[in-house]
Amino acid sequence: MNISFPEGFLWGAALSSYQCEGGNLNTDWCAWEEKNNLEKAADACDHYHLFDQDFRSAKSLHLNSLRISFEWARINPQPGKFSKSAIEHYKEVIDSLLAYNLKPIVTLHHFTNPSWFMDQGGWLKASNIDYFSSYLKLVVETFKDKVDTWLILNEPLVYAYFGFIKGSWPPGIKSLSSAKKVVDNMLKAYTLGYDEIKSIYKNTQSQVNVSLAKNFRIFSACPDGLRLLNSFSSYLRNKIFNFDMINFLSKHKKLDFIGLNYYCREYTQFSGPLGKECQHHHQGRKNNFGSIVYPRGLYELLIKLKKYKLPIIITENGTTENQDYLYQEYLRRHLACLARAYQAGVDIRGYFWWSLMDNFEWDKGFKQRFGLLEVDYKSFKRNKRDFALVYSSIADNNKVDLDPDDTSLDADPG
Ligand code: BGC
Repeated sequence: MNISFPEGFLWGAALSSYQCEGGNLNTDWCAWEEKNNLEKAADACDHYHLFDQDFRSAKSLHLNSLRISFEWARINPQPGKFSKSAIEHYKEVIDSLLAYNLKPIVTLHHFTNPSWFMDQGGWLKASNIDYFSSYLKLVVETFKDKVDTWLILNEPLVYAYFGFIKGSWPPGIKSLSSAKKVVDNMLKAYTLGYDEIKSIYKNTQSQVNVSLAKNFRIFSACPDGLRLLNSFSSYLRNKIFNFDMINFLSKHKKLDFIGLNYYCREYTQFSGPLGKECQHHHQGRKNNFGSIVYPRGLYELLIKLKKYKLPIIITENGTTENQDYLYQEYLRRHLACLARAYQAGVDIRGYFWWSLMDNFEWDKGFKQRFGLLEVDYKSFKRNKRDFALVYSSIADNNKVDLDPDDTSLDADPG
């Protein structure tokens, strides 16, 4: 049995500028690598120069869309100054996507910030929102005739968690109250940005779709120990990390669709109200990243998100493995769950694999490989992985085959 998707369904892959382009020296991440002696993004995949070739590969895989990001620090290298050459570069990037009939979806902030912005207090200071707003305005004005789908932010809660609670990402702060400030300011920047984009498109012929890429996880109570308290913590995590922001934005009508990033499941153990990630219990396989693979979670989330009555795009889903059959299995099982949710009436408009190519995985460096295209970091040669061909044929046929032996959608074993 198979499930077909309507014409225009987006089959894509996602990437971000800092992780792929290379040469983004004017950013907080670059300074952070230096300061902490981490593996450096440096030339990354040299996508800055090889974008056209990468887009051609995406086209040859029968993809019809790509989610990319613009590097704020490139476009806006100093406060109040915008770089003509950076804008010209991104014009070439967008034109190249359009020439290959790849619909561009553009993220404006994917974790990285200009160094000057951080020197002035970054997202901790409400008055700095204006800096982001003027970058957003310039970019959207420039590209309004060629881009109709914008993701203002990528995973603000992940950014705030690693940068301001765990302290393992720049600026390396460990303070709950700072994290809260950052989230509040990012949300403010998002809502202002949403209104700004809408007003920019008012005088154009095109309809614009605006959202953010929101991380979702399945939180389950660890079955060992204090089960009731574990359940309480996993309930809270689900509420705060998965749904509070979406509830807020949909209530205020600031979402045109839901951008869903989904990778895995996490078992929660009580250690105070919010609990912590349980390290010992796991049902199901862990991937190279140490994440618990749980395809059914995608189905569960999609069904839960149905109540918002908004279109949904899976803006990221992917894995990092040592063997190709594991990538294939991950892809097939998640797509089977997506297809079932679609069949159950969820308004799903697209699916984006993370990532088009192997790339710089933040503090984990280059070891984790998520790409449809394998990258040789010495020669910058790309090579299509076998599972990319499986994805290619699904995209080409615009349908997902359901394997009767696939147990992904069976009842959750807990
Ligand atoms: C982020 C990417 C990251 C990926 C894999 C996502 O949450 O948006 O930047 O590379 O996860 O860890």
